Amino acid sequence: MSLRHLSIVGFGLIGGSLAAALRARQPDLVVTGFARSAETRRQALELGLADAMPDTLAEAIEGADIILLATPVLSFETVLAAIRPHLTPSQIITDAGSVKASVVDAACRVFGELPPRFVLGHPIAGSENSGVTAARADLYQGRRVLLTPDQHTDPDAQASVAQMWRDAGAQVEWLGVEEHDQILAATSHLPHLLAFSLVDTLAHEDRHLDIFRYAAGGFRDFTRIAASDPVMWRDIFIANRTAMLTQIDAFADGLAALRAEVDRADGRAMQTRFARAKSARDFFTQLQEPQTMSKHWQVTAGATMQGTIRVPGDKSMSHRSIMMGAIAEGTTEVSGFLEGEDALATLQCFRDMGVQIDGPVDGRVTIHGVGMHGLRAPKDRLWMGNSGTSIRLLSGLLAGQSFDVTLQGDDSLAKRPMKRVSDPLARMGAVIETAEGGTPPLTLRGGAPLKGIHYDMPMASAQVKSAVLLAGLFADGETSVTEPAPTRDHTENMLNGFGYKVERDGATARLVGGGRLTACDIEVPADISSAAFFLVAASITPGADLTLTHVGVNPTRTGIIDILLLMGANIERLNEHTVGGEPVADLRVRYAPLKGIHIPEALVPLAIDELPVTMIAAACAEGDTLITGAEELRVKESDRIQAMVDGLNALGVAAEARDDGALIPGSLDRVFADAAIQTHMDHRIAMSFVIAATRASGTVVVRDIEHVATSFPNFKALCMGLGVKLSETSH
Ligand code: S3P
Repeated sequence: MSLRHLSIVGFGLIGGSLAAALRARQPDLVVTGFARSAETRRQALELGLADAMPDTLAEAIEGADIILLATPVLSFETVLAAIRPHLTPSQIITDAGSVKASVVDAACRVFGELPPRFVLGHPIAGSENSGVTAARADLYQGRRVLLTPDQHTDPDAQASVAQMWRDAGAQVEWLGVEEHDQILAATSHLPHLLAFSLVDTLAHEDRHLDIFRYAAGGFRDFTRIAASDPVMWRDIFIANRTAMLTQIDAFADGLAALRAEVDRADGRAMQTRFARAKSARDFFTQLQEPQTMSKHWQVTAGATMQGTIRVPGDKSMSHRSIMMGAIAEGTTEVSGFLEGEDALATLQCFRDMGVQIDGPVDGRVTIHGVGMHGLRAPKDRLWMGNSGTSIRLLSGLLAGQSFDVTLQGDDSLAKRPMKRVSDPLARMGAVIETAEGGTPPLTLRGGAPLKGIHYDMPMASAQVKSAVLLAGLFADGETSVTEPAPTRDHTENMLNGFGYKVERDGATARLVGGGRLTACDIEVPADISSAAFFLVAASITPGADLTLTHVGVNPTRTGIIDILLLMGANIERLNEHTVGGEPVADLRVRYAPLKGIHIPEALVPLAIDELPVTMIAAACAEGDTLITGAEELRVKESDRIQAMVDGLNALGVAAEARDDGALIPGSLDRVFADAAIQTHMDHRIAMSFVIAATRASGTVVVRDIEHVATSFPNFKALCMGLGVKLSETSH
């Protein structure tokens, strides 16, 4: 259905803003409305938000395709009863109520059931300003609208309502009614209640005038929402009172614990609590940024690539430090931890399973281990974000727990193959459900006894090897994995560091289940996968002389150095030493004319994450470069073979995709054409093309760069420090 006539019952901020947004796009949209106050009716007409504001509800809804209820929620029953005799079968009803179960109840009382063409909805886009005069056409831009239909809701009606909100600029998501009410009680209703309560408490103090006169920014920030509509919130607290009471009680418990800490002047406990709160907030703020708010980078040719930098901590080791620290006995101190979204997702998962983790503060994290059997069932699904390493390693680590747990991630993770871990884990006795097609979400059933197996891994994957070994910690007897080619061995090294014996016998790693991990200190070196972008950048920038300090150079990770050296790069290893069992070095790289090669297949798994940026080096080298044996690239955060070849084609390079790699024609004096590059939400594709752009003729736009923060949060700042002309754009 295409929306031609919208009727808004309750013409305030929410309804008025929807009318404004839709009419800006579709000037011939007819909007009629109803408001109890004559003043509101007059204002809606005067502001051009409605064509007619009749005196009766019957007239206000007549001829409308969609009727939006935007009155306070406790009035819905009265409104529905009043419009019921005038509804036609084709009319769709939707609402903007912040509570959903009470709306279902009201509808059932009026209609005997929730009508199939009543699509429950909730735009999460309020403002402390209320009333039609506060209406703004951009109120829903990039905001979320939650729809909570049930199995009887008409799919066409749902689609029409979803389209209406999308046309207003919102991102539409679906949720269950109960889930919605519980989540909103915690995230919206409780904060409003607290804000009202705090201001009210202070207003009763004798010195309230002084208090308000000297109130600083914190007071204003915290209490902004106490200026919201009192009637609306009264109704919400009543309509959602069961979930509200649960949240109020949980908050009261937390406050009592904090009160005791203040009373005892227990600085350490408070700092732990606040650091945990800060990092949880930072993490959730990132999650909340709707994906419609795309950011792109515009990069103009040229760079200096001179100086000394340290790239952030190794992603693989950061994940593993949290996982092993959590199940160890004692307190593990980690330094150099990567504060990127992927590793933070792992950290948050363990907090959700009851592990106390302090930090990260400047890369330092303290993990108060709970021992092999101390993890607790999380209250909800565990959120993996974009991180394949989190979901695959955790599926192994959690396969032998006593509780059920579901692991879920973002749209990109939802497409990635999980059978490669669920198959061997099932052979060990784990009970794992995947979505159709063997993709996330994964549900692991607790209490399944695991037995050790020998696993001949069909692909060279460190994630699969690690998942099996981590499950092996909880399995009866010996677990061993043989890999077809060497892959990163951080799991084995770190387990040994935690005092858990892992033996290596050629291509086979083995351990015996039932042991324990003892806490230790871990210094995470800089990530060679992040350093790789600059190894290539400096190699293709005439005059470059760049030193990357403290880079992890574990031989299972240095394929990129070997490949670049084979291509003629000038890379020196300086200051080589070992930190916590892992070799590190400073890497000095200077410009050198590169030549194309057939990359030895043995180096492919050792440079698996660096192959995208290697393809940029290849395009700037003399002659062809051939990559083979790299079919694994097709199942990374994106199909990296296709994404790189498409991007290179856009930049004017006649690269060709192969099933298991690519052929890239090179040229020493390569000047890339100006183009816009699709990154497919893949961090490494984005960063590779930023490096390419430094050799463009003018300006390259690298689209959708948000995911760079998964592995390399300060990539942009480091690039700019090395003379890359990079700016943000939303077009
Ligand atoms: C990783 C292993 C690799 C790599 C990923 C991190 C790890 O994945 O691509 O970025 O930390 O074990 P595969 O095991 O799928 O090759």
